[in-house]
Amino acid sequence: MLGARGGWQALRGCASLPRAQPAVRLRVREALGAREPAGEVKVQGWVRSVRSQKEVLFLHINDGSSLENLQVVADPSLENRDLTFGSAVEVQGKLVKSPHKMQNMELKAETIRVVGPCDTWSFPLKMKERHPLEYVRQFPHLRCRNNMLGSLLRIRSEATAAIHSFFQDNGYVHIHTPIITSNDCEGAGELFQIEVSWVEKLPETHFFNVPAFLTVSGQLHLEVMAGAFTHVFTFGPTFRAENSQSRRHLAEFYMVEAELSFTESLQDVMQVMEDLFKTATNTVLSKCPRDVELFHKYIAPAQKDRLEQVLKNKFVTISYNEAVEILKQASQTFTFKPEWGCDLQTEHEKYLVKHCGEVPVFVINYPYDLKPFYMRDNEDGPQHTVAAVDLLVPGIGELCGGSLREERLPFLKSRLQRLGLADAYEWYLDLRKFGSVPHGGFGMGFERYLQYILGVDNIKDVIPFPRFPHSCIL
Ligand code: 4AD
Ligand code: MG
Repeated sequence: MLGARGGWQALRGCASLPRAQPAVRLRVREALGAREPAGEVKVQGWVRSVRSQKEVLFLHINDGSSLENLQVVADPSLENRDLTFGSAVEVQGKLVKSPHKMQNMELKAETIRVVGPCDTWSFPLKMKERHPLEYVRQFPHLRCRNNMLGSLLRIRSEATAAIHSFFQDNGYVHIHTPIITSNDCEGAGELFQIEVSWVEKLPETHFFNVPAFLTVSGQLHLEVMAGAFTHVFTFGPTFRAENSQSRRHLAEFYMVEAELSFTESLQDVMQVMEDLFKTATNTVLSKCPRDVELFHKYIAPAQKDRLEQVLKNKFVTISYNEAVEILKQASQTFTFKPEWGCDLQTEHEKYLVKHCGEVPVFVINYPYDLKPFYMRDNEDGPQHTVAAVDLLVPGIGELCGGSLREERLPFLKSRLQRLGLADAYEWYLDLRKFGSVPHGGFGMGFERYLQYILGVDNIKDVIPFPRFPHSCIL
């Protein structure tokens, strides 16, 4: 008697009958790192190579979890015409020790299902070809299938996590600063103004009643929070309408920013910059060595040794005054003649870094008139400076910008009044009225950071979807 549930259902519960084990889904990284053989596993991914021999069919598949591909070994009868480079597949079989020295494990396929075929003739990526970064840049919707971009995206993900960990481990509170804002933090007028797409139905007024922009920096909002939390940071997208086609500017980029209350010394801010750089970089190097190695091998061969030296040594510090003297004495002629009071151009930054031995260099105390309203007045006579710092690095130029902030109400008020900004920044002046403390902070361009550690020449190759003048693809 099989009972009320019916025969088949009842039999399924019977311990004496064998039950088909569902295949365990493994990622390529897990399969490659497995210590023991395993039966009935399933791996999903995209075919990176197909090699058909008389007795055996070899596939390499990748699912984005590692630079290395998983080798699949199959009976040639499993081959079909859709099983090509670029196709999406699901392979089921047994994970076995590989006889090849190059890999630990391989997958002995029992079934291969082509989930999504790929038209290899029109697919812009070709099997086993090392496409240059400039070539794959033309295909922002497909380039993540390329090894170099795959590595970059894994490194970017690890670096993001490492930066968050650095701040969290050091007691900083993460703040989501807004993307839409009504202020121009840097005062450089490089703003994207935002409006609704149905603006014709809203003729007289703005959506927010005031002009609104995409943020150029989360600093002012972080300063608000630094009035209640002694250590805060933010890490998000920032936007600049700079009409620059340079290899180190984007219209949309990510910035890491920190603000430290009860800080009277620029040195304290610089120490955080240096610690952040070194800690995050050490983490990235240890978490994705193979991905970093790919860049150091094929893109920037000398970068590995240079980076190791940089991580061991203290960053150099020079003042802006010293920097101008060094530039004036240079045998090189510059397009922009170095003069006290003028901003340092890329050519100057490069020369300074070279002069200091191709290492990161802090330049401190810039002319008062060159810098935004929030920087702290050094009150230092005719060559009037503010407590500002830029961190310059080889090959890139400026990686970080920071300062002590003007915490003294009278100084800030008179500067804002002279700029005609006192009404717009009444709330900012309030911060100096209600429990103001000496504080400072900085911002680091995340793409420039990646460019520097990996030795990538063009900033468009270190962000998944680059935005720059005349280009907003996808
Ligand atoms: O020097 P910046 O303009 O500093 C600020 O925005 C401060 N409010 C930050 C702060 O103190 N909280 O920008 C900081 C960094 C630069 O040093 C540079 O690395 C990067 O942001 N950056 C860019 N990166 C890519 N494309 C651009 N157009 C960039 N502009 C600045
Ligand atoms: Mg700057």
